[in-house]
Amino acid sequence: MRALRYMILLYASMLAVPLLFLMLAIAEIAGNAALAGILEILAAVGLMVYGVVGFAEAFGGRNAHANWLGSIAGKENGRAGKPADKGVVAVRLEIGRFVSEKRALEKDTYKVSANRFTTVLDALLSVKEEKDNTLAVRYSCRMGICGSCGMVINGKPSLACETCLLDVAHGGRVEVEPMQAHPLLKDLVTDFDDFFEKHRSVDPWLYRKNAAEQNKAASVYAQTGKERDEYLPFSYCIMCGLCMDACPVVNSNPKFVGPQALSQEYRYHKDSRDQMGAKRLGLIDSLDGVWGCEYAGACSEVCPKGVDPAAAIQALKFEMFGKAMGDEDEGK
Ligand code: SF4
Ligand code: FES
Repeated sequence: MRALRYMILLYASMLAVPLLFLMLAIAEIAGNAALAGILEILAAVGLMVYGVVGFAEAFGGRNAHANWLGSIAGKENGRAGKPADKGVVAVRLEIGRFVSEKRALEKDTYKVSANRFTTVLDALLSVKEEKDNTLAVRYSCRMGICGSCGMVINGKPSLACETCLLDVAHGGRVEVEPMQAHPLLKDLVTDFDDFFEKHRSVDPWLYRKNAAEQNKAASVYAQTGKERDEYLPFSYCIMCGLCMDACPVVNSNPKFVGPQALSQEYRYHKDSRDQMGAKRLGLIDSLDGVWGCEYAGACSEVCPKGVDPAAAIQALKFEMFGKAMGDEDEGK
């Protein structure tokens, strides 16, 4: 409010002073001495206001202008300025729990209190602590690193510890379900054995021709920054499995190796220290491998680490196609 008052005074005096001088000139030309006198006094007062406000802006009320603009920007984009604080709000948390004895999902609804920092995981843990301690939920780091709290929140595969409850609450309601692309165990907990099996199937490690040397490397395998940048974005995978849950092919063909494993295949293929070469591409050259991808792109949409498995898979296809064409040309 203080900044707004400064702005109104500053701009009003900036506009009023030249206007008063203009009217003063007209009054003098018209020979109206009384009016000219009044206008002269008003112009002097305007100049004084302008000077005082300018002085306050420069020294006392420094940044009043910038603060005001900042607060407007804050309201518009929700980032700058003071963050919106909705206080403590009641949210209806609807949890689709997989009941293993019945082999079916059952919905339980709980009322939870949330402020702007409460994550979906916090809300689930408060339910577990205060309302129903039989609720099964998997988590570890609570900071988007371990990848163990993946679940479907309002229809989108997400990390519960990285999703603020109030950001996803529509009409005061949030729906949480277990991921469906992984076998269900209990409530929100899924079985990742098959996921890790698929991950292992692409040999996700550095392969060196001289294994004895690798086990007792005499020095580091040097790499330039440019070489590192080739694979770095794909090395951020935390194996949360969200991309697998979002992938329509994984959901219709359980044999499809899936976006997580394929993106890691690409990561090692592009690593200049890896020496597996074309043999690595052979690991995924099948309809359940890279050619199974139909490029829905949902994997990249949900990845919390920006890995972009869809891009990795298309790059793999492109390389394999180029290689096949090269082989054909060589055969001619
Ligand atoms: S690629 Fe992304 S979404 Fe898929 S497992 Fe890795 S971090 Fe999770
Ligand atoms: S608890 Fe580790 S990623 Fe959510």
